[in-house]
Amino acid sequence: MPEAAASNAVPAHGGQLRHISEQFAVPMAELLDFSASIYPAGPPAGVIEALKEAIRCPAILRDYPDIELCELRSALGRYASVSPDNILAANGVAPLIDATLAALRSQRCLLLVPAFGEYRRVLEKSGVEIHPFPLSPDLEFRPDSERLIDDCRRHQCDTLLLTNPHNPSGFTLAAEDMRRVIQNAAENNIRVLLDEAFIDFVPEDSISRDTPNFSNLIVFRSVSKFFSIAGLRVAYLIASEHLFRDIARNLLPWPVCTIGAVAASRAVEDVAYIAETILRNRQEREWLGAKLLGLGVTVFLGSANYLLFRLPEQSRSKSVWERLIVDHRIVVRNCASFEGLDSSYIRIGIRSRTDNELFIKALSSLVSE
Ligand SMILES: Cc1ncc(COP(=O)(O)O)c(C=O)c1O
Repeated sequence: MPEAAASNAVPAHGGQLRHISEQFAVPMAELLDFSASIYPAGPPAGVIEALKEAIRCPAILRDYPDIELCELRSALGRYASVSPDNILAANGVAPLIDATLAALRSQRCLLLVPAFGEYRRVLEKSGVEIHPFPLSPDLEFRPDSERLIDDCRRHQCDTLLLTNPHNPSGFTLAAEDMRRVIQNAAENNIRVLLDEAFIDFVPEDSISRDTPNFSNLIVFRSVSKFFSIAGLRVAYLIASEHLFRDIARNLLPWPVCTIGAVAASRAVEDVAYIAETILRNRQEREWLGAKLLGLGVTVFLGSANYLLFRLPEQSRSKSVWERLIVDHRIVVRNCASFEGLDSSYIRIGIRSRTDNELFIKALSSLVSE
């Protein structure tokens, strides 16, 4: 049974509204979800049109998907500025990381803490030894890039797992700095698994298109967050061709359904949606960040579509999380479920101005009590 459903604990993931609704006896339809980092104005209108067209055609449902997912990989390749030959798609980032660890026969991995919880689960499932690399709030969760590689060497890690922008802090390493880390790792025979699940919000910092130049780099990307089609389960990785074949061998056949492939292909071609989403998200993040600072909380602004902040007193924050749900019907991410954080940290997904105003009003009433 998934963790969130198994207990009354803080959910291990955002977006667990059914669980929250049962735990606090509040109707699910009344909950406003700030806990999942999914762009609220998506999916792009063209996706809905493409899906309507698709289900009018019985063959789309009747036939197996193209086993090589050629159209999807071409669309993703145009979007990420890489050849489709370097792209492999599957039903989520975790299955792709899983296949990659198996292909690379990874033994030991340096893992930044805190980080997306599924990394630990996949690494453990694959029998990879984990060496945590703690990130400090005093440095805004910024990793010291030199120390990353030194620590890999010290613990004999053959693999380094990074997220850019980082989740939950939103901290983003500039492309140039990331290239230096990859180069340094290459010189020390370390493979870098780089999760760019949120890079679409800050595309200038992506190094996806550098993958053909780095034989030690595998980049993971997602259409779940930016294009708001998490329910369809489509993600992809970008790797140089010599790695690509081994990773592909470790995936089960037909990992993406035809409907998912149709939707993702259409989504990444919507240039107007892409430009608008980047702009809106940045504006709302800055607005929310300023309002939160005004409430006296410590804010980690980041550059993704979520914000991490710390409430003044740890003991209060669990009750703030609960009271936001019970009194205001607002669900935020209680970061006690992140290794290395506690319930004084809260992460919110950035929503529309109207929703963000509701959140600030609710939080303000709780912190000023
Ligand atoms: C850093 C990070 N990577 C990957 C994912 C999952 O992406 P996908 O929906 O494509 O599996 C998440 C989901 O929260 C995430 O936070």
